[in-house]
Amino acid sequence: MGKQRMFKIWVFVYIPILFCTSSMHVGGLGVNWGTMATHQLSPKVVVQMLKDNGIQKVKLFDADQSTMGALAGTSIEVMVAIPNDQLLAMNDYGRAKDWVKRNVTRYNFRGGVNIKYVAVGNEPFLASYNNSFIHTTFPALQNIQNALNEAGLGSNIKATVPLNADVYNSPESNPVPSAGRFRADISEEMIQIVQFLHQNNAPFTVNIYPFLSLYLNENFPVDYAFFDGTANSVVDHGIPYTNVFDANFDTLVSALTAAGYGDTPVLVGEVGWPTEGDKNANVNLAYRFYRGLLPRLAANRGTPLRPGYIEVYLFGLLDEDAKSIAPGNFERHWGIFRYDGQPKFPMDLSGQGQDRYLVGAKGVEYLPKRWCMLRPEARDLSRLGDNINYACTHSDCTALGYGSSCNGLDTSGNASYAFNMYFQVQNQDDLSCNFQGLAMVTDQNISQGNCNFTIQIVALSPRLLPGIMALLTGFTFLLLL
Ligand SMILES: *[C@@H]1O[C@H](CO)[C@@H](O)[C@H](O)[C@H]1NC(C)=O
Ligand SMILES: *[C@@H]1O[C@H](CO)[C@@H](O)[C@H](O)[C@H]1NC(C)=O
Ligand SMILES: *[C@@H]1O[C@H](CO)[C@@H](O)[C@H](O)[C@H]1NC(C)=O
Ligand SMILES: *[C@@H]1O[C@H](CO)[C@@H](O)[C@H](O)[C@H]1NC(C)=O
Ligand SMILES: *[C@@H]1O[C@H](CO)[C@@H](O)[C@H](O)[C@H]1NC(C)=O
Repeated sequence: MGKQRMFKIWVFVYIPILFCTSSMHVGGLGVNWGTMATHQLSPKVVVQMLKDNGIQKVKLFDADQSTMGALAGTSIEVMVAIPNDQLLAMNDYGRAKDWVKRNVTRYNFRGGVNIKYVAVGNEPFLASYNNSFIHTTFPALQNIQNALNEAGLGSNIKATVPLNADVYNSPESNPVPSAGRFRADISEEMIQIVQFLHQNNAPFTVNIYPFLSLYLNENFPVDYAFFDGTANSVVDHGIPYTNVFDANFDTLVSALTAAGYGDTPVLVGEVGWPTEGDKNANVNLAYRFYRGLLPRLAANRGTPLRPGYIEVYLFGLLDEDAKSIAPGNFERHWGIFRYDGQPKFPMDLSGQGQDRYLVGAKGVEYLPKRWCMLRPEARDLSRLGDNINYACTHSDCTALGYGSSCNGLDTSGNASYAFNMYFQVQNQDDLSCNFQGLAMVTDQNISQGNCNFTIQIVALSPRLLPGIMALLTGFTFLLLL
């Protein structure tokens, strides 16, 4: 009898667990792991950080072998990605099949990588791309999903296209979520994509940025970007919307419904708040944003039109000092962790609203405590501007800009900050702290107030550096010194 009872308990306890683990998705939050940094943490260190913080899903921007190697053998769900510049190539079915073989099938074994999605492009319809990818995105999506299906992986691995939220809108005359439609100029492409996703039971992936709503519109009510109440609710058919995240999400749900595919699953590919580089980008506001967002997600509140669990990937995991600042100076500061893997502010990923710091990266090695600064005795400053400009073009000076933590420095502080950032990017090579005789190395910490003159970490692999620096150099330095 005792045995029988035990058996029953086992059955009762285990069956639901089996159902849970074999169902399509684990719950919980995902994060975006971007790698556009001059000095990258080792993938192993990052994967340990994910584990230490209970993060079970990660979205990548490629399918880099060392990243995949570090994820292998973990149960972490992975979204791998095909960059925009490979979309055209993926219009060829043979090449799409090859891509799937090399970047998906290859990892599909016991102890391999738990791939759940393939992101086909990254925000390919962004206005700044001038329609470059309008005609290549859908065929690439089709080919990748078909190749996954042909490889026998299609029921577990779905192709999707992470899209920016401006692929849909509501008319200015009726700016409510229920009036949401796909943007008129791309509506044909959008409907093809949605139809295909729906056929394959794949999610629509959208990136939603309340920060950008605020950044791009001087008159945007600040409270509406957050989740702690607002005097500016939008009432739509009796439903009050108190935050732009819900309103934006439901505008998409309405656009899907109007297109005839209202039950398409929606996944939020990116959402987050930057901590530097604009008057609204700082640790306090990022803290406020996440403190509102995370408990709502954990409670599976969903939105008025889609109550329940929403699959969400925070943007992002780490700061990336080599990203383009074309969108704004904040672009390099989206991390919930700094460049060195240390948490910036307290947040509770489990959504219980507790103030605690996430577990930082372990075993990170820093360069020696050495800084580069403007020589105090420097007299001929006529070439200072050119030298600062050079330093900042080849490193990250975004913290000097308006609204940022180092905006209050005087001219000599500005120069030292710029020189030091360059010196650190160059792994503290003595030759890189010269600037026509204007600069010198010091072992005194020259940080000022809230402005941290940072020390870089030991670079993962110097052989990666030339490529990344070429990338950095390609961007015009937008801060006017
Ligand atoms: C796909 O795999 C190949 C072979 O390992 C690699 O060269 C390529 O960079 C991978 N693609 C991406 C987008 O990471
Ligand atoms: C888009 O067009 C603008 C203006 O014509 C140009 O400056 C920019 O480089 C173009 N961007 C791309 C990605 O082609
Ligand atoms: C320091 O640099 C920032 C960013 O370019 C600029 O806004 C500020 O005016 C500079 N300060 C001085 C005193 O030159
Ligand atoms: C330098 O000083 C700043 C401000 O006191 C501090 O936050 C930072 O940790 C110091 N840096 C190093 C490498 O010790
Ligand atoms: C400043 O940067 C150093 C690394 O150079 C880091 O160890 C320190 O914690 C940072 N301090 C603050 C307050 O962010």
